[in-house]
Amino acid sequence: MVEDMEKIESNKNSEEFNFPEAELVKKCPLFADCTNIVVGKGNINAKILFVGEAPGRNEDLQGLPFVGAAGKNLDKLLEKVGLSMEDIYIANILKCRPPENRNPSNEEIKTHTSWLLKQIRDMKPTVICSLGNYATKFFMSLGDISKMKDQPGITLIHGKVQNIDFEGLKIKLIPLFHPAALIYNRSLMGEWEKDMEIVKKEINQKNLV
Ligand code: URA
Repeated sequence: MVEDMEKIESNKNSEEFNFPEAELVKKCPLFADCTNIVVGKGNINAKILFVGEAPGRNEDLQGLPFVGAAGKNLDKLLEKVGLSMEDIYIANILKCRPPENRNPSNEEIKTHTSWLLKQIRDMKPTVICSLGNYATKFFMSLGDISKMKDQPGITLIHGKVQNIDFEGLKIKLIPLFHPAALIYNRSLMGEWEKDMEIVKKEINQKNLV
């Protein structure tokens, strides 16, 4: 509940955000309206990256991804397969909350993912779990935003491991349903659990945790 949460001081003027990709995000209109930039959480040295869509209200207030209802779902699902925040890093396509949680525009995706690409270059993940349509289509189109609309939707492609060359890295992309979708459609839970078994298999094969 939002009322339960402590609002932290805004990080928007943090001196850490002085590199070109952050400067680009600061020029986006979404930056002007948000409370916090939501960079990511977890272990930046992990080999598994989860990527969602955009911060919601709770994430915007706390400056952390997946801390609201969808995040609680994600935590439970990760626990079920024995993954902790030490084992993974979580970020989003957008660093700032879109008003009323509307869908991101192509231009916003382009601006904000330059920072995500930097995070990927720094982190060098081996496995990327894309949560929902936007993240999945971004990686499936290899970051070419104009091609996102031509990519298969998450209902078709979830749980199907894709080998991609991305930012000079060989990556296993594992598309997953967005944890928020599971809140509205409980029948997807069984699919999610099956898909997470695939994530677990990839992790065990490569000794990633
Ligand atoms: N949904 C997302 O895609 N990302 C978050 O950080 C929270 C909800």
